[in-house]
Amino acid sequence: MTILIKNGSVVSPVGIINADVLIDGERIVAVLAPGDNSLGAGLVGSVDHVIDAAGKYVIPGGVDCHTHMEMPFGGTAVSDTFETGTRAAAWGGTTTIIDFSVQTYGSRVQDSLQTWFEKAAGNCHIDYGFHQIIGGVDDDSLKAMDELVEEGITSFKLFMAYPGVFLSDDGQIVRAMQTAANNGAMIMMHAENGTAIDVLVSQALAAGKTDPKYHSLTRPWQTESEATNRAVMLAHMTGAPLYVVHMSAKQAVEVVQRARDGGQNVFGETCPQYLYLSLEDQLMQPGFEGAKWVCSTPLRSKAEGHQDELWRYLRTNDLSVVSTDHCPFCFKEQKELGVDNFSKIPNGIGSVEHRMDLIYQGVVDGQISVERWVELCSTTPARMFGLYPRKGVIAPGSDADIVIYDPVGRTEIGFHKTHHMNMDHSAWEGFVIDGHVDAVLSRGKVVVEDNEYKGVKGHGQYLKRGLSQYLI
Ligand code: URP
Ligand code: ZN
Ligand code: ZN
Repeated sequence: MTILIKNGSVVSPVGIINADVLIDGERIVAVLAPGDNSLGAGLVGSVDHVIDAAGKYVIPGGVDCHTHMEMPFGGTAVSDTFETGTRAAAWGGTTTIIDFSVQTYGSRVQDSLQTWFEKAAGNCHIDYGFHQIIGGVDDDSLKAMDELVEEGITSFKLFMAYPGVFLSDDGQIVRAMQTAANNGAMIMMHAENGTAIDVLVSQALAAGKTDPKYHSLTRPWQTESEATNRAVMLAHMTGAPLYVVHMSAKQAVEVVQRARDGGQNVFGETCPQYLYLSLEDQLMQPGFEGAKWVCSTPLRSKAEGHQDELWRYLRTNDLSVVSTDHCPFCFKEQKELGVDNFSKIPNGIGSVEHRMDLIYQGVVDGQISVERWVELCSTTPARMFGLYPRKGVIAPGSDADIVIYDPVGRTEIGFHKTHHMNMDHSAWEGFVIDGHVDAVLSRGKVVVEDNEYKGVKGHGQYLKRGLSQYLI
């Protein structure tokens, strides 16, 4: 099957060019500037399918490098399967996810990975890779880190939060970082001081403070900033590269900025929820409504000015990636587990379907350029996690993962509108985006076109990843 995407504006982090994109099978074979007849003037007549992208952006498919499908968590399990979650991702212009295999304390890393391979195999609509969560750092898991790098799992997430569940103490973090410094892997860090948070949570509950807003109030910015600083220092000491996930506090990103200015290999990631949603507007909604937006790190106070600072850090590259941390739970029976106790509300928000649109709204609002949108959502995540140039760029030889995006379209997000995630509500209900995903190709297959879904489960393939391109 050959496809020609004609007359579009092809976007990369370094510019926008008018060009036609020729696809043969699963790959891009040529990017042709207007007037380039090198493949013959009769090209249009000889291809199987022509897509007219006049007036549209032609961008590399989104790479969401932080999702959780089918993950047991918070006394329940996230509501999207690999099938439902990757289908929703495709609808929204994301053509690659990197999910997390989860090792819990006392279990073998390789066993968890096997479980996650089985969950995903044959079920994904788009391509997928894995990071590995190390929930118990010991001699066996450190050895497994070396083995996994060979299998294309080149990044490992550690937690400074969730004592008794996932938390690694400083000694464990040092050992894992030493291993990564040696084998070239990236350390991803959930940077929140979990033991300090637990004290604040107990004190709040003892005082009868049970509402969802206390989730944020018991995780103040200092707990994120302190943990980020500790992670940065331990990474400096061990020489490991560090990627701090789901950052929401401006003071924590300032720590990343200082480290980067000092030449350290440290990166920051944020998510749409921290750019648009807040303690006041969402978590403080009446009754138990706020539970929909309980996630960690938490939504922060609008009055404290985090959102504008996060957008600024996206421009300065102290935040280098926007992922979703897609971790969906239904309101009924899942979020409701914490109806009398905010600490029992499963942590997570579902956004995998909306990231490309939500961050494009940042272009419309003048926060970032079109090129930076593509860099944050596609190119850098691919480079960061060893998928580039197969993913994250429109160039000959790359996978034909392509989104045709209408810059003057309109997307009304809502449960009864665009929603395809397996959730009984949308955390983004009522958001209207001045742009629209018109068509999506995954490895040369049209999966979305004319507001119709044409993909199939099982099309998505496992991606064996290389090392990060940002290693010094
Ligand atoms: O609230 C969140 N972030 N849930 C997902 C798990 C994690 O820490 O990434
Ligand atoms: Zn986390
Ligand atoms: Zn996460």
